[in-house]
Amino acid sequence: MLIREAHNQDIDHLVAIEELCYDNPWPREAFEEEIEREDVGIGVVAEDESLVVGFLTGMAVVDEFHLHNLAVHPDFRGRGIARCLLEAIESLCRQRNLRRILLEVREDNEAARHLYLGMGFKAEGTRKDYYSPGKNAYMYIKHLGSE
Ligand SMILES: CC(C)(COP(=O)(O)OP(=O)(O)OC[C@H]1O[C@@H](n2cnc3c(N)ncnc32)[C@H](O)[C@@H]1OP(=O)(O)O)[C@@H](O)C(=O)NCCC(=O)NCCS
Repeated sequence: MLIREAHNQDIDHLVAIEELCYDNPWPREAFEEEIEREDVGIGVVAEDESLVVGFLTGMAVVDEFHLHNLAVHPDFRGRGIARCLLEAIESLCRQRNLRRILLEVREDNEAARHLYLGMGFKAEGTRKDYYSPGKNAYMYIKHLGSE
């Protein structure tokens, strides 16, 4: 398994995995904007034998990283890939002197919530109807110490 920074050439793979993982997937243009904005966009992918099997993308906003998207291909879950992607992004955030990682997660997404709690994130409130009426989000945050 190789974890590396995401490039424009990965966008087809990101879109394909996104469509497998979500009922309302992010459109291609959203990934293009995030990955092509090298000043603030930060993304990493996981490769298994040259095949992209997972990704994490987001944006640096002042001294924070806003995590917008994390997904692992269903055939490759449960192998620690999401954990490795989060570790890699944390390391990149520290290199850029970012102080926090923020994200929203659906309140019924047990797998993701376990993942984030296990990685040291804390729930810091909720956003009612964030995804659609009745679909609330938890806001999670991780403060990056100076390790
Ligand atoms: C959430 C997701 C990214 C996890 O990816 P993954 O590579 O399978 O996760 P990992 O193997 O790295 O698991 C790390 C931890 O996450 C948690 N976790 C992962 N899958 C879980 C599940 N099905 N049920 C409960 N906890 C789970 C566990 O705490 C796990 O640690 P453990 O193995 O020590 O128990 C993946 O299920 C996915 O892509 N889901 C669809 C998209 C999504 O919901 N993204 C998150 C949006 S906020």
